[in-house]
Amino acid sequence: MIGWVPYLLSAFLEETAGPAVRGEILAEAGFDPNEAFRIDAGYADRQCRRILDAACARLGLSEEAAFAAFAPFFLDRSRTMFPAFFNRRPRVRDFLLHQPEVHNTLAAGLKEGQRDHVAAKFRVEPMPGGVRVFYRSENRLAGLYAAVACRLGEEFGEPTRVRYEAGGPGDAECIMAVEVLEQPAQAAA
Ligand code: HEM
Repeated sequence: MIGWVPYLLSAFLEETAGPAVRGEILAEAGFDPNEAFRIDAGYADRQCRRILDAACARLGLSEEAAFAAFAPFFLDRSRTMFPAFFNRRPRVRDFLLHQPEVHNTLAAGLKEGQRDHVAAKFRVEPMPGGVRVFYRSENRLAGLYAAVACRLGEEFGEPTRVRYEAGGPGDAECIMAVEVLEQPAQAAA
């Protein structure tokens, strides 16, 4: 996994729970408590997933609550770091259709095996009023996808919901129907 997600998780933990608790959680997940994640490097998926598990256990949060709290931070930092992705696609459906491309662009600097691995996680196709997402990853982070997609909808002023057509948020493989429920008047016209 590209270092961006563990980097963000670590920064989020530091901001919300403080540096000491962040360090304990990273140690619990098998990292150095002061690990400085590089956003241009690859990390083992399984170990990154352990940061999330350790954080939920330490902070007494369900995964759903953790994703809902993390999603605004994820988007906020992504927007600050990669403004062009957002400026180019200010609509939920369009943004989500290009989200695998965003991931693959960031993965371009990784080694070949790792690069393919990132590309295999998401396939997104258009459907009327939204997109259909085919998710496949041992990280079981479809729930994070759903939280970020809904948050994106809030930020873009386009209420959005996610319906699982196969599998569910905790599965390594699932299909999500992302439905944009309302569009701003001038966009819908
Ligand atoms: C500019 C915006 C975004 C940036 C910079 C970004 C960046 C990244 C990066 C670098 C990864 C790690 C990929 C890997 O190495 O496997 C990742 C993973 C992920 N991203 Fe994004 N992303 C963005 C937008 C989104 C959006 C809009 C969503 C959801 C609607 C999303 C959902 C996810 C999920 C669920 C993962 C974890 C995949 C897994 O490991 O199973 N991302 N993102």
